[in-house]
Amino acid sequence: MSPRVISVDADHPQKPAIDEAVAILRNGGLVAFPTETVYGLGARALDRAAVTRIFAAKGRPAAHPIIAHVLDENGARKMATEWNDLASALARAFWPGPLTIVAPKRAEISAELTGGGNSVGIRAPLHPVARALIAALGEPIAAPSANRFQQISPTLASHVVKSLGDRVDLILDGGACARGIESTVVSISQANEIHLLRPGSISIEALGKFAKVIYENQNVTEGDVRASPGLDAKHYAPRARLLVAPREELAKLAQGKKTGVVLQGNSAGFEALTTTAGNAAIQLRVLPADAAGFATAIFATLHELDDLECDLILVEAPPSTDDWIAVKDRLTRASEN
Ligand code: TXA
Ligand code: MG
Repeated sequence: MSPRVISVDADHPQKPAIDEAVAILRNGGLVAFPTETVYGLGARALDRAAVTRIFAAKGRPAAHPIIAHVLDENGARKMATEWNDLASALARAFWPGPLTIVAPKRAEISAELTGGGNSVGIRAPLHPVARALIAALGEPIAAPSANRFQQISPTLASHVVKSLGDRVDLILDGGACARGIESTVVSISQANEIHLLRPGSISIEALGKFAKVIYENQNVTEGDVRASPGLDAKHYAPRARLLVAPREELAKLAQGKKTGVVLQGNSAGFEALTTTAGNAAIQLRVLPADAAGFATAIFATLHELDDLECDLILVEAPPSTDDWIAVKDRLTRASEN
């Protein structure tokens, strides 16, 4: 069965839609909603049973903590036992926005929400629909990305429908997510350094203005000890095989398969491949050449190529500069190589 979907104005969400969503949340139900990063699968963060329902709907292991969404720093302080000057500076600089700050949790924050751990990940989203929902509920909303475990995050309501079906009670459709990849997740060390747990929409460079940023690029395999369980090596994967390679190598990999090819900036070198008879099976997509523009479009492009039933998706390897770290991270987790 398909879930109930209501279209809302992304900038000025209609009150009846928000009211309906809040009624479902108060009843312990699940509501998917747009944020500026990706769609979230929301439940009342303070309701253990509702949070448990999120895990069931996603098919997600119970040890993976879920982000609590609040309106502002005040909301964060109510969930954390420690909120130091650096946390405060980061919140003032990046909230509302795509930064998740992990802090020691208060006793009343459930182990269900935190995956059994003693810390809670908190973020104040920017998207007006997300904000309207949190404000109307008057409580934090727990929300992971609104996809089944290990699938690509949704950047459109249709992606949520495809992945979760009627495992979600209501989807608020506010159109496409502006950022397109998930928030940056950080924690703050005793030494007052920023530990980057998941690269994301906020760049390392931007964080580096506030403190030293430590990033141990742990591409761990399932079962290893890890600081942030969302960092499993296989994550964010499309159904098709995905390979990342330099442009020169992509053309020869593409031959003889129903293949999606994702390039940066232009299609130089691929003109022949897409026009030659016999290669009609090649689906070429040219995304923006800058990291932020590419990030906005990449998940939707992978969803689309999956829907076209490509059996192979080839993505041009991103440059090795810091601004591409988050995109590279997601592609690495989605790829076989
Ligand atoms: O942009 C986003 O962050 C989206 C939107 C909906 O807000 N949410 C999202 O949630 O991507 P999810 O559950 O798919 O990924 C959350 C990430 C995971 O890598 C998880 O391990 C990490 O945040 N995380 C959450 N709470 C944590 C905690 N207490 N300690 C360490 N890592 C945590
Ligand atoms: Mg996710």
